[in-house]
Amino acid sequence: MNLKDKIVLVTGANGGIGEALVKALIDKSVAKVYAATRSTAAVANLVQQHEGRVVALRLDITDASSVAAAAEQCRDLDLLINNAGVNGCESLMAPAGMESAREEMEVNFFGTLAMCRAFAPLLASRGDGAIVNVCSIIGLVNLPINGTYCASKAAVHSLLQGIRAELAPRGVRVVGVYPGPVDTRMTVGQEMSKATPEQVAAAIVAGLGNGDEDIFPDPMSLGVHAGLQKDPKRVEKEFAAMIPA
Ligand SMILES: NC(=O)c1ccc[n+]([C@@H]2O[C@H](COP(=O)([O-])OP(=O)(O)OC[C@H]3O[C@@H](n4cnc5c(N)ncnc54)[C@H](OP(=O)(O)O)[C@@H]3O)[C@@H](O)[C@H]2O)c1
Repeated sequence: MNLKDKIVLVTGANGGIGEALVKALIDKSVAKVYAATRSTAAVANLVQQHEGRVVALRLDITDASSVAAAAEQCRDLDLLINNAGVNGCESLMAPAGMESAREEMEVNFFGTLAMCRAFAPLLASRGDGAIVNVCSIIGLVNLPINGTYCASKAAVHSLLQGIRAELAPRGVRVVGVYPGPVDTRMTVGQEMSKATPEQVAAAIVAGLGNGDEDIFPDPMSLGVHAGLQKDPKRVEKEFAAMIPA
């Protein structure tokens, strides 16, 4: 996809991968980015820095009326990037596991699905519209210490495969992104090697330019993906071994 002069919506634009994406897209000469957040004040700086090209959009992806209002406001959209997500950092058997799983499914799966459903008709009408869903490499193999989150991201992976097939005949491309650990609010306090949000955003923009269907944006995600291609059971066992005693 040639991003020049395109109109893009990024969810979860107030920090982390979302904010880095807004900046990378502006650098790629898109015409306009709708920076979607639950509180528009959270993107005031971005809007000010890129006046006229970054537009604040209030959006809670779990709220049907908010999603419908966004689809109504962004009728000129070419590319939807579903980046918003939550991670309760709970295992499936933890006391808070059920609560965490429900919230993650509500935001990561149902919220993303609601956005895809709301925007698909207008993206289809654009001729070469596209949807990018930010999944996770741990949506492809469960990391038990984040077990509930992984299950929700596995659901996102399955959803993107399904809508890719459904929307292809209508001319809408669907792209999946599978980052490894990234240095954002989501991983604060977790000691491990992390990619920067800027690295991930640059890889997403490059992957879109190359026409990639699946984007593995950092060395960790590339390595795990290669392992899963070769020996998925070995990777499952390695991730299982990361559970604290
Ligand atoms: N960081 C990682 O290691 C990593 C790895 C793989 C994949 N990812 C995925 O990358 C995406 C971006 O995460 P991040 O790392 O940049 O973390 P982040 O800084 O915590 O960003 C998450 C964003 O999602 C927004 N959000 C949460 N619930 C929402 C809702 N109901 N409606 C609208 N927006 C909502 C948050 O807004 P508020 O500020 O209002 O809460 C925030 O802007 C997520 O989908 C995440 O799962 C992250």
